[in-house]
Amino acid sequence: MKPDPMLMIPGPTPVPQAVLEVLARPPIGHRSSDFKAVLDSVYADLQWVFCTQQPVFLYTASGTGAMEAALVNVLNPGDAVLVLSCGVFSQRWSEIGKAVGLTVHLQAVPAGQAHDADALVSFLTSDAGKAVKAVCLIHNETSTAVLNPVEALARLIREHSDALVIVDTVTGLGATAFEFDAWGIDLAVSGSQKGFMLPPGLAFLAVSERAMSAHAQVRNPGYYFNFSKQAKSLPLGQTPYTPAVTLIRGLGKALELMKTETLDGIFKRHTLNQTMVRQAALGMRLDLFVPDEAIASPSVTAILPPDGVSVDAIRAGLREQFSITIANGQKDLMGKIFRIGHLGAIYPRDILATIAALETVCHQAGYNKTPLGSAVKAAQEVLAQHG
Ligand SMILES: Cc1ncc(COP(=O)(O)O)c(C=O)c1O
Repeated sequence: MKPDPMLMIPGPTPVPQAVLEVLARPPIGHRSSDFKAVLDSVYADLQWVFCTQQPVFLYTASGTGAMEAALVNVLNPGDAVLVLSCGVFSQRWSEIGKAVGLTVHLQAVPAGQAHDADALVSFLTSDAGKAVKAVCLIHNETSTAVLNPVEALARLIREHSDALVIVDTVTGLGATAFEFDAWGIDLAVSGSQKGFMLPPGLAFLAVSERAMSAHAQVRNPGYYFNFSKQAKSLPLGQTPYTPAVTLIRGLGKALELMKTETLDGIFKRHTLNQTMVRQAALGMRLDLFVPDEAIASPSVTAILPPDGVSVDAIRAGLREQFSITIANGQKDLMGKIFRIGHLGAIYPRDILATIAALETVCHQAGYNKTPLGSAVKAAQEVLAQHG
């Protein structure tokens, strides 16, 4: 018999027992008063998570669905957008933009770096005619484990243009500070299977008044994702079409757990997880893919494998001996880094177990630069000091 699987990837993340119990209940009618009560509180609690007074739309879709919804609802084909890319997911803004007929200007930085604020400002100042209607960026780039300074970037965009500020915070929200209203964001996307501790299937989209005004000018905003339909249903405690009723009831429970922990408590736990993993890697003399702590992700840490040990061997060892799943690198980074997720319902206990297992597997594969226990000790020291 094997232990229960442990998901140490940046989504899907583990689902707490209390949420699983709600998910096990039989479905109820999506137009019932019971479900209206759930939706009313979910809509309000989503505003709490996004730190906004603006509506947060709820889609039965994955995060990418809400990304597409964001673009098609506020931009017309041919409109110019600037996409800041620092990895696979931020790059996705440009793929969606092209797919829906936008004119995409791409500013990319090498993997492991954060968005380039200077390049952003020089692009916007050279856009004298203010042709760029929106800037798309990412809060937490899951593929490279980089956290971008969204507050500062959004301020620069506001200072230098009238463009809408569109943010992917799929793996930032619920892990670290994100303040939709205070930071002047126009559209922000997240998903259920990340900091919300739910299975995949729901996407969230916070929408500013400026975004709703832009929406009013859009010729073909689509049907299923249409903001007008969402805006009409939301105050009635409804969704336009049959939503994932079961997941939404689970979301109600997950938001209750989040409110009990408080945003501040959640962010501190993610920072503790992050610091434990980073110090553990350094403790066994592995290189971090993002050495600069200032841009290190609170949700996932990317680590280079030791010389002579492959990412595949590490992942297979963790999976086969310990039932622990960690992530490979994506695209160009496949086989070059491995990623340990510490997002959602992940606690120091899980980090200690993962680090101990990682250290064991690396030693079994011949790694002997540091004695067994070095990584665990480094993580324990963080916990003893800050836990
Ligand atoms: C930062 C980020 N953006 C977007 C996505 C895409 O979300 P989904 O797979 O839910 O469509 C992911 C998925 O991992 C992600 O990490």
